[in-house]
Amino acid sequence: MAIQIAPHKVVGRDSLIERVWKNLQSRSLRFTAERRIGKTTVMRKMLAEPRSGTALIFVDLEKVDSPRRFTEVLLTEMWPWLSRKRKAANWFRTFLTEIGGVEIAGVVKIPHRNGIGWKAAVEKTTDGACRHNADTLIVLLLDELPYMLQKIAAKEKRAGTQDHAALEILDTLRAMRQEHANLRMIFAGSVGLHHVLRDLKGAGLASEPVNDMPLVPIEALALSDAVTLAKRLLDTEDVQVVEADRERLPGELAALTDRVPFYLERVVSRLAELESPVSIEHARQVVRQQMTDDHDAWEMEHFRSRLEIYYPGSSTDANGKPILNASLARAMLDILAVARTPQTIDEVWASMKAQMPLDDRNQIVRLLNSLAQDHYLTSDSEKRYAFRFPLIRQWWVLAQGLSS
Ligand SMILES: Nc1ncnc2c1ncn2[C@@H]1O[C@H](COP(=O)(O)OP(=O)(O)OP(=O)(O)O)[C@@H](O)[C@H]1O
Ligand SMILES: [Mg+2]
Repeated sequence: MAIQIAPHKVVGRDSLIERVWKNLQSRSLRFTAERRIGKTTVMRKMLAEPRSGTALIFVDLEKVDSPRRFTEVLLTEMWPWLSRKRKAANWFRTFLTEIGGVEIAGVVKIPHRNGIGWKAAVEKTTDGACRHNADTLIVLLLDELPYMLQKIAAKEKRAGTQDHAALEILDTLRAMRQEHANLRMIFAGSVGLHHVLRDLKGAGLASEPVNDMPLVPIEALALSDAVTLAKRLLDTEDVQVVEADRERLPGELAALTDRVPFYLERVVSRLAELESPVSIEHARQVVRQQMTDDHDAWEMEHFRSRLEIYYPGSSTDANGKPILNASLARAMLDILAVARTPQTIDEVWASMKAQMPLDDRNQIVRLLNSLAQDHYLTSDSEKRYAFRFPLIRQWWVLAQGLSS
């Protein structure tokens, strides 16, 4: 996770947050976005600007890898809300003592064997929080939840146990959402929850633990917000710009970075290191250097290396030979990276068949769909696919040695 900026420095996101609040009146939500787009920042901004009658509880699950730790972190974050009312605080303290837990300086610890188990501890605390704040809408912001579930499942696998704790956490959270009319949740994370669910269900379990939570896509910044941020960053970093480009540089920076604040920050801080004054041409060079940098400061390699994890297993080609799904995905990205225009499913299918002996068109349709869910691609109203981010496309062309 990136270092978080002060809420007053967050640019834009107001209309998105407005929409989120409107939705939260009646349902829980899942934030979906490519890495570094600014999901956590949106949640932090919501925390900094609370609405009356609501209690926002932010829970960072990035470092959590066990149900017990999950419980401790959740209870620790709920404690400030419970401690506001004496009755609720007393109730929680008594409950904690009963299960052998402690609260020291606001941090809740529970023992390995707490008598009632992690699930009941989570349920009872949430129940207490909801009951004692019946007139308040309690919103749990669970950041990096899919990552936590992945780690819990991986740990179980290594240990050879079959507790299915990750799915149980999801089911418990769902049951809590159904039980309490004043409880909402937002799940966020850079790993797609659909991948985690697929792996968990691979263990033979059938449950639909998030189908009550619609997806809210977090897009890159609006152009005007990206320009505002570029101007501000140039100013804070004290970047001197050549007269001729002064007006156009912020807009150019917004375009070069696909309006992703994280990349904008990186480009401007590189510009600040150059000999001034800088020009638009310098900005283009910086981006290109980053794209080809073997130290990969922007961690772009991730987009390639995760294909094996995202698309495991294999399909069969027309000769009955296995072909890795990740290889199919890679080949499709190669095709779309150099295509001059967005491609229809038939066009992608024809290009793929020209490269390898394939006879199952559905495979390709499914993979295109998955690549879009994972933010590599986007499709237009005529179902023509293209890279979602020009920057990632540009990186892909260079990293794969393709000529566009
Ligand atoms: N709206 C914004 N205004 C200004 N800066 C922003 C904004 N959104 C994000 N940033 C900058 O980009 C960085 C990355 O954003 P953030 O951590 O919110 O992304 P994320 O989607 O949660 O990333 P990850 O996938 O790594 O969890 C932030 O630390 C901040 O510096
Ligand atoms: Mg984040």
